[in-house]
Amino acid sequence: MNGKEVILGVTGGIAAYKSAELVRLLMEDDILVKVAMTKSATKFVTPLTFEALSGESVIHDMFGQEGTAIDHIQWGQESDLIIIAPATANFIGKMAHGIGDDFLSTCVLAATAKILVCPSMNTRMFENPAVQENLDLLKKRGFIIMEPGQGALACGTEGPGRLPEPDEILQQARKLLSDQDLSGLKILITAGPTTEPIDPVRYISNRSSGKMGYALARAATLRGADVILVSGPTDLNPPPGLNFCQVITAEDMRRSVFENRSGCDIIIKAAAVSDYRPRDHAAQKIKKGPESLSLELVKNPDILTELGSTIEEFPAVLVGFAAETEDLVANAEKKLKSKNLDMIVANDVSSKDAGFETDTNRVKIIYSDGRVDDSPLMTKDKVADLVLDRAKAIREAGLEG
Ligand code: C5P
Repeated sequence: MNGKEVILGVTGGIAAYKSAELVRLLMEDDILVKVAMTKSATKFVTPLTFEALSGESVIHDMFGQEGTAIDHIQWGQESDLIIIAPATANFIGKMAHGIGDDFLSTCVLAATAKILVCPSMNTRMFENPAVQENLDLLKKRGFIIMEPGQGALACGTEGPGRLPEPDEILQQARKLLSDQDLSGLKILITAGPTTEPIDPVRYISNRSSGKMGYALARAATLRGADVILVSGPTDLNPPPGLNFCQVITAEDMRRSVFENRSGCDIIIKAAAVSDYRPRDHAAQKIKKGPESLSLELVKNPDILTELGSTIEEFPAVLVGFAAETEDLVANAEKKLKSKNLDMIVANDVSSKDAGFETDTNRVKIIYSDGRVDDSPLMTKDKVADLVLDRAKAIREAGLEG
């Protein structure tokens, strides 16, 4: 999200303290955050808190010393997004009826940026027809309204009215800040390891964390694609806004991939599928016995090879991943050809800062025409965007050719 600018408007509700966390999350995403507060908001959290977190001066007084005389015009016209969080009933009413009696409300009136409103208030207030009608008015005018969460509220009641969690607001903001360049595309992504049972308590698996596949699924969803994520067991939460299929074994994964492949424009197999599974799955826990114990393994289906060999029937850009510990490019090229792929993303899993479990990756992308792209160490989120850019370009070239 580097280069994006967000104005965070904090109004006077108890959930204002959660907005401090939101600033931190936005900044972790390389977003420049400027905070404007209403007078009442400063009674809940001090401007200093937001100033310290954002590294920018906070405006809370239209006629105060901070900023320039035309900030209330410029802020909303030079930024990419305004987030009002928390948005009180009073502030929602002011936005709906064109009132500009302080810095933040005039900023909203003059804004050309998208505006995301995150209501937070007592349930009765939220359900009041006046507030609901004001929200409807704002929706009609193109404001994006987040549904408040349900649950116990600070005022002691239960029901809708909670400010959505900062992470949910961040996800919505990321979507609004992303180009929707993959909209209309159906993308199937596999992620994580598969586990192959030996008995009810033991299994064979590998060190795949699923982070790369989940980063791909998150990025594709943010960029507007219709995403199906088929995942083996991981510790990660599925990103919001996609179709999630949980699988355990390679055979489960194969079933799920083939059930979902029809109509896909791009298929990315980032999963580390177990190549072998135990021939027999003991019904009861295997007891400790002799000094040695042999486990007979049989080959699992190679899902990607099967996809590649039937690609004429279900045309899609096919992307594989290769985790190698030696001869990275040569091994990856061999896989690209044998599996009939359009591109393969090769990573050296023997290095500490790339490959399995890490948050960063250093990849080489090899194409079916022999080209090789060498990328520096990047976060998995950035690698995900790069892989999606390349897959999209292959698809577009295919449509033209
Ligand atoms: O195991 P291998 O190194 O050949 O994996 C390369 C690619 O093939 C990966 O994209 C992986 O997801 C896929 N694969 C598969 N089914 C297997 C093994 C690997 O789809 N049984």
